[in-house]
This record gives sequence, structure tokens and C-alpha cells, in this order.
Amino acid sequence: MRVKQARGASMSGSRIGLDALKAKVMSPEDAAALIGPGETVGMSGFTGSGYPKAVPTALARRIEAEHAAGRPFKLRVWTGASTGPELDGALAKANGIEFRLPYNSDPIAREMINRGEMDYFDMHLSQVAPMAWQGFLGPLDTALIEVTGIRSDGSLIPSSSVGNNKTWIERASKVILEVNRWQNPALEGMHDIYYGTALPPDRRPIPLTRPDQRIGEPYFRCDPAKVVAVVETDTPDRNLPFDAPGEDHRAIAGHLLEFFRHEVARGRLPANLLPLQSGVGNIANAVMFGLVDGPFEGTTAFTEVLQDGMLALLESGRLLSASATAFSLSPEAAHTLNADLDKLRDRLVLRPQEISNHPELIRRLGCLAMNGMIEADIHGAVNSTHLMGSRIQNGIGGSGDFARNAYVSIFMAPSTAKGGKISTIVPKTPHVDHINQDVQVLVTEQGLADLRALSPRQRAEVIIENCAHPDYRPALKDYLTRARRDSYGQQSPTLLMEAFAWHQRFIETGDMRG
Ligand code: COA
Repeated sequence: MRVKQARGASMSGSRIGLDALKAKVMSPEDAAALIGPGETVGMSGFTGSGYPKAVPTALARRIEAEHAAGRPFKLRVWTGASTGPELDGALAKANGIEFRLPYNSDPIAREMINRGEMDYFDMHLSQVAPMAWQGFLGPLDTALIEVTGIRSDGSLIPSSSVGNNKTWIERASKVILEVNRWQNPALEGMHDIYYGTALPPDRRPIPLTRPDQRIGEPYFRCDPAKVVAVVETDTPDRNLPFDAPGEDHRAIAGHLLEFFRHEVARGRLPANLLPLQSGVGNIANAVMFGLVDGPFEGTTAFTEVLQDGMLALLESGRLLSASATAFSLSPEAAHTLNADLDKLRDRLVLRPQEISNHPELIRRLGCLAMNGMIEADIHGAVNSTHLMGSRIQNGIGGSGDFARNAYVSIFMAPSTAKGGKISTIVPKTPHVDHINQDVQVLVTEQGLADLRALSPRQRAEVIIENCAHPDYRPALKDYLTRARRDSYGQQSPTLLMEAFAWHQRFIETGDMRG
């Protein structure tokens, strides 16, 4: 890997290396005053890292004051993915977001979306930047971007996430920068910003053939004339801690390790596996911890986020290198990374999400995609986003980018949720994010279902037998028997009037069990 910049050299003393931009330093309140009602703002930030912290908070206070004075003030907010409480949380609480894209995990914003008070466009993360260029999302007024520093030539040192920042800086009419001293100066040189994307008919192959390869530049290009404000901050990324891996999570990791061993033994995977992709959330995190104790050496990762478990895998030496678009670390793991960054940085690369999640690259590299799910149905369709068919939990994130294009697409969850009152294996999912053709392996703590080359009828038997919880297995078998008897067709036996009855029962009684 080529990471040989003289890091920190451009940041000795002040982190703002260009006098013309030093002259634009102002308070968060003054910078927030440059954003008007109705604007579309492209913010940095991806799964709780690298998001602007001071200006959104000041903006939220301003919006509250405007609302108190009877003046409407709402924004259209575009991000990389989820952010932190100072951004989504503060703006949602102020009732300042009318439209948001893409992935969100903020609880206040989630409630507003589910009450119908905020429009949420949940899209594949690889598609956000190209769709912003296509133009139908409308113009972008302001880019509000956190950076680690500004170099003497005006280029920007990215922070702990890259997300869509390149595109926001290019597309926006004006740019506001937050220079965050909390971000480790050793991040400089770790990023790889590719400037070769285009819209059809000018698209060219992306020349990346190894996960650790660098094809771009370490900095964002930015015309200083577009920068209207610079705000200095010193605030940590505020990621939530993960749940400690429980028994179910360890069992899921164990089944997956066994599957990988089996595939290697049969010559269907190389001994060091293929590039790993690990999704967001507690389950994906726990599975990466499981791999630390596994037999696989010399692995690599081509993934969207790097969570605690993957950092542990990197520290263990079993993971040689990781490519992602963002860190998504608990406060404790962020501390570890900051302490060890000099040691680890040559094995890490952060890219725009358009590249980290690019279907062409996922397909070429042959990723092993491991993502959490809300539920799966007996034919193998997966729901990653909606509770009981209508309530958004987070969003599809990059799970669709990876699932459709992976070498092996794996989804995992404990077989029950909410203390056993919900089965995550159901007759039919009332919302589908991943059609059965995009789901090759399902894993719960009960076992693993290898669905490759199985018809829907065969899939149903294997999923119920291997993945469903014993409390729900008899009811699923009974449903399947009757569906095979009474269904309109036998390719994917379904009883239409009964298919969503489990979900309806939960809504009415708080328990899926009859
Ligand atoms: N019905 C209702 N609620 C369910 C449920 C179900 N079938 N399955 C899980 N839940 C609830 C859990 O109870 C928990 O609720 P709580 O926060 O109130 O405790 C919440 O959903 C999260 O579940 P958890 O078991 O902690 O899983 P997780 O942290 O691993 O997250 C997803 C699982 C699916 C929500 C998460 O992986 C996600 O958002 N995925 C979509 C995006 C994605 O895959 N991105 C990766 C791309 S690279």
C-alpha cells in the first residue's frame, strides 16, 4: 500500500494551512446564519463518524428560535449515512428537517419519520452520489463538511468518514467547513478519493483490483472561493457502544466459521477467504469478533464500515488490510484506534461510499457479504428495514449494494426478537429489501441454511428446520404443509390471507405466538 505523505506537515500549529481560509474562521452561530430556510444541505457523516457537530447544533437553536417567532424553517438534509445526536438528533428535535436521505439511525428522527412528520428517502448508499449528479434530487445549496485539516493549497484532509463529501463539495454552491482538532492528524494520507467517476455515456471501468489498492488522492479538492465559513471544533465522534456479544451472537459466528471452513475444504473458497464485508449493528460486530478466534489467516476486507469487531480482527493480525468508507467505532474502540493509528494506518483505506460500495468492485473482488436482518421469510426473502411492514428501523444502507453483487450473500439474526415474542423467520415478510435471488445463506443461533441452488419449496424446508426457533418451528411447518395443499401455485407456496397474520397478531397482542 502506498501511504507516504509527510503527515501533519501541512498542519504544524494551526490546522488551517491557507491564509485565505483562516480569514473565514467564525463562530458556529455565524456560520449557521449563512444557511437559509428551505435550503438543501449536504452534510458529512457516516455511521456516527466524521459528521459536523457545532454548526448543526447552532442551526437547530436558530430553527427553534425561528419557529418560536412563528417563522417556518425546515431543511432538506443529505448525508453519507447516519450521523450523531448533534446533527440528526438536534435538527429533528427542532423540527428542522422536512426531507432526509439516506440511512438514518437517530431515534428522534426515526420517530418523526414513523409519525409521518419527516419524509425519508431510503436509498442504496452506492447510488447517492451518482443520483445527486443525475440532477433529479434538485440542487445542493450548501455542503457542511467536517475535516481534519486544511492544507496550504486549499485541499482538505478528510476525517473519520468519507461518505459523499467529495460529491457534496463539488455539487454545492457554497461550502462550510468544520475543522475538528479531535480528529487524529495521523489520518492524513489514509484516504483514497477517486475522481474518475462520471455519468453515462462517459463512465469508465474503475481500476481497482485489490481491496488495499489506491486509485485516487488522499485529499478532497476544494475551490477556496466556494468556502464561506470555517469553524474550529474539538469534539469527539459520538458513536454508541455495541452490545457485548451474547450467546446467540457467538452461536451465529460459530455457524458461519463452520460454513467458511466447509467451503474452503471443498475448494469453493481460498484458505484466506475472499474480501470480507461486514454490515452495521450488533450482530455483524459480534461475528467479526468471532473471526478473531477462527482459523483464517491473511484475510482482507472490502466493506462499508469498520466496527469494533473488525478493528479487533485487524489488531489480531488475521486481517491484513481493510477498505471502508467510515469508522463506526464505540468510544472505547475509537480511543484504541487513535492510540494505534500510526501502527495500523498503512493497512487502512477510507474511500467515498460510491467506491466502497460500488457494485462493479464488489462483484470483481468477490466479497463475502455478511449483513444483519430484521427478518427473513421461509423462501429466503429478507427484510432489513421495516418492523411489522410499516415502521422504519434504520434503512437499507449498503446491504443491497453488497447482497446483489457478493460472491456469497449472507444474512443473519437471532431467531427471535423482543424476548421471544417475535420470530425472525416468518411465513412471509411484509416488506422485502432483498429478494430471494440475492440471499444465499441465512444464519440464526439455531443453525445455518445454505440456500444456493435450492428452489423456493426446498428453501422453505431448510430454513424452517435449520434457522427457526423451536417455539415457532411447529407453526411454520403447519403453515407450509397447508400452503403446499391449498396454495394457488406450487413454485412458492403461500396462503395469502394467512401470510401476514403473525405480524398482525403482534401488532394486536404484542406477541406473534397464537
Ligand atoms: N421485529 C421487530 N423488531 C426487531 C426485529 C423484528 N423481526 N428484529 C430486530 N428487531 C429490533 C431489536 O429488538 C432491536 O430493538 P431495540 O433497539 O429496541 O432493542 C433492534 O431491532 C436492533 O436489533 P439488534 O438485534 O440489536 O440488531 P442489530 O444491531 O444487529 O441491527 C439491523 C440489525 C437489521 C437493524 C441492522 O443490521 C440494519 O440496520 N441493517 C440495515 C442496513 C445494513 O444492513 N447495512 C449494512 C450495509 S454494509
